[in-house]
Amino acid sequence: VPLSDDDLVVRSLFGEYAAHFCDAGPLPEQLPAAAQALYVVDERVWQLHRDHCLRGLDDRQDEVVLLPISEERKTLATAEELYAAITQRQAKRDTTLVSIGGGITQDITGFVASTLYRGVTWIYAPTTLLAQADSCIGSKTSLNWGRFKNLIGTMYPPRRVYVHGGFLQTLSEADHFSGLGEVVKLHLVGGAETAAVLEAELPALLARDRTAVARAVRRSLLIKRDFIQEDELDSGRRRVLNFGHCFGHAVESAGDFSVPHGQAVLAGMILAGLVARARGVLSVTLEGQLRERLLRPLLTVLPDQRSLDPQGVVAAMRQDKKRTGPKLALVMLCDDYRLELAQDLEEAEAVAALGEMRGLL
Ligand SMILES: NC(=O)c1ccc[n+]([C@@H]2O[C@H](COP(=O)([O-])OP(=O)(O)OC[C@H]3O[C@@H](n4cnc5c(N)ncnc54)[C@H](O)[C@@H]3O)[C@@H](O)[C@H]2O)c1
Ligand SMILES: [Zn+2]
Repeated sequence: VPLSDDDLVVRSLFGEYAAHFCDAGPLPEQLPAAAQALYVVDERVWQLHRDHCLRGLDDRQDEVVLLPISEERKTLATAEELYAAITQRQAKRDTTLVSIGGGITQDITGFVASTLYRGVTWIYAPTTLLAQADSCIGSKTSLNWGRFKNLIGTMYPPRRVYVHGGFLQTLSEADHFSGLGEVVKLHLVGGAETAAVLEAELPALLARDRTAVARAVRRSLLIKRDFIQEDELDSGRRRVLNFGHCFGHAVESAGDFSVPHGQAVLAGMILAGLVARARGVLSVTLEGQLRERLLRPLLTVLPDQRSLDPQGVVAAMRQDKKRTGPKLALVMLCDDYRLELAQDLEEAEAVAALGEMRGLL
């Protein structure tokens, strides 16, 4: 498929791929004709969009596999269901898998695409804000195993990504605000300028203004692209994209996943700011500005006491797979928007930040 001017091209160890942006018309009309296509579609997205963004796929029902989506289903068992569905349709190595859904659908389809016949072509149309603004580029595919999230995975980017704004119209409020958490993270990691742009557009993003959201999606992907092109395999620069996630994952798991992921990331960024301020690497002024102008306004699900419980959170942080030494790991945003990956976080510092955070909410 030829590139258009506003496609976003990602350089990758697997060859270049591009994200293509569209906002009107049904998606299937815009996809390239593949000899053997199989559409793997989130069942909910199918119900909501079969007469809208997915109009036209109805006529090709035998090429459509519907997946009921939940985090509990992001497993090898579901991957096997998909292998079975694909082989039943006499799919060959020239099959193209077309994945349509959020990050869960992406992870399952991407994993299957990377392992089936040691790799078949796949195309991805992200349908949630999180997936459009963040996960759709970067090559990672993951499955959960037992109680371990994203334990199993491969690196295998899609051949092309189709970002269609129409899908976001049916997204729940919870998923919109969860996605915004990652959008803010990327704009902060992007530096002072992108952070300022985001702050100016915050009211429109809170109101789900369609063009503001589309612009934020594009900017987020531009920022992320820089990091993954430099470090696709996640051994250096890309690790700062974990900003907000060190505390965030721990808040999620301490609260038994009552806080949505992007909301936990927002809380995680606030906590990282409190630690950075206490360490003197982030000024009191900038910490307060970021917290009150960008992070707090988006925190629509306040973490409950259990999610911020010092013992539970610190215990979860000890499990962080990105930790290398005996102490805890933390990505901090410092003055001048410099990012620092500390490997020497003391538990007492984490406990102090959690205490302060409880007082702030
Ligand atoms: N591979 C990566 O690089 C990467 C990066 C970040 C996150 N992830 C993974 O992504 C997952 C989270 O992604 P997500 O938040 O997109 O979750 P998701 O795929 O579960 O989607 C969230 C919910 O929205 C529904 N939905 C999807 N599109 C919709 C639409 N257009 N309208 C209405 N409802 C819709 C889904 O059915 C689901 O109930 C996690 O499993 C996470 O580990 C992967
Ligand atoms: Zn995340």
